Amino acid sequence: SAAEKGGYDYFMLKEIAEQPKAVADTLLGRIDGAGSLTLDEVRIPANVLREVDKVVIVACGTAFHAGLIAKYAIEHWTRVPCEVELASEFRYRDPILDQQTLVVAISQSGETMDTLMALRHAREQGAKVLAICNTNGSTIPRESDAVLYTHAGPEVAVASTKAFLTQLVACYLVALYLGQVRGTKYADEIRAVVRDLGSISGAVERVLETMEPVRELARSLVEKNTVLFLGRHVGYPVALEGALKLKELAYMHAEGFAAGELKHGPIALIEDDLPVVVVVPSPRGRSVLHDKIVSNIQEIRARGARTIVVAEEGDDAVVPYADHLIRVPVTPTLLQPLVATVPLQVFACELATARGNEVDQPRNLAKSVTVE
Ligand code: AGP
Repeated sequence: SAAEKGGYDYFMLKEIAEQPKAVADTLLGRIDGAGSLTLDEVRIPANVLREVDKVVIVACGTAFHAGLIAKYAIEHWTRVPCEVELASEFRYRDPILDQQTLVVAISQSGETMDTLMALRHAREQGAKVLAICNTNGSTIPRESDAVLYTHAGPEVAVASTKAFLTQLVACYLVALYLGQVRGTKYADEIRAVVRDLGSISGAVERVLETMEPVRELARSLVEKNTVLFLGRHVGYPVALEGALKLKELAYMHAEGFAAGELKHGPIALIEDDLPVVVVVPSPRGRSVLHDKIVSNIQEIRARGARTIVVAEEGDDAVVPYADHLIRVPVTPTLLQPLVATVPLQVFACELATARGNEVDQPRNLAKSVTVE
């Protein structure tokens, strides 16, 4: 009913709008006044976490994209090798796991069969399993050694939005916590990022306030058949997520690429007026990556692409090459997906609406996939 949707036309719109609160709720009570993480709910003892020599993340769909981003954070802050794998592939390839492996299973519903089978397999090999889950008491957390709940609240729309942002928050918390417990040379940076997480909900809110031009742009592309997404570093999984949203909602051909792969193939797809969304990393920090992606934007534009550029506030280098510019607030490099994903959700939702599609219940899809 309209009341359930809180005045929005679709659950998806409501859930997109709830993201600042979902993010804040997922952080609540997990950071103490001194800027340390207090994840007592992760009932895996600190000495066991110190012994971990490999992290393996398993998930499907959007949760898998959260896992891809987690890898950048975990390896950077903990210096522990991290693999991310689609749960459906992991289970059947005889993966190498032992007591020193920490498996992280990410799932909104907690009922995804592929992810469940992967975690059962991991536990049989003696690995410890930590679930990141949004649904209290569901099967995946029940069968795991520990669980870090995301507090997105119920997600009704089939296309995941607020659950994804909170999965990212949980992944950052796990990465920072592991770093904190193990003590790395990044202790100061970890404390600074924990502080920055405190203002991230406000940053998501600011993105939501500036979405009208994105909706307008989406409506103008209603006749298109293909949209490409490019990103680099943590912007690469954001590109994959933007493409997945567009496939499932707008039924358009959409693909995400690592920008560095362009010249290894995908650049052949560029043709006149093809919309290409580019997620640009911050010019601060890893500025090499920023410069490389700016030249990618130039390259594709010279070949006719219509460039839709998602870039940090104050990043002026992209301005001459952006046919459309979407600004996101300044964040630490690794946290950028929390703000950069939001415009891509709005974009897909609006394109789906313009194409007359059923936004909350896309064809052929189920909210939770409980069969293999
Ligand atoms: C996301 O928009 C999808 N509907 C889908 O990819 C989903 O993320 C995937 O099926 C995993 O679900 P889960 O998080 O409940 O395990």
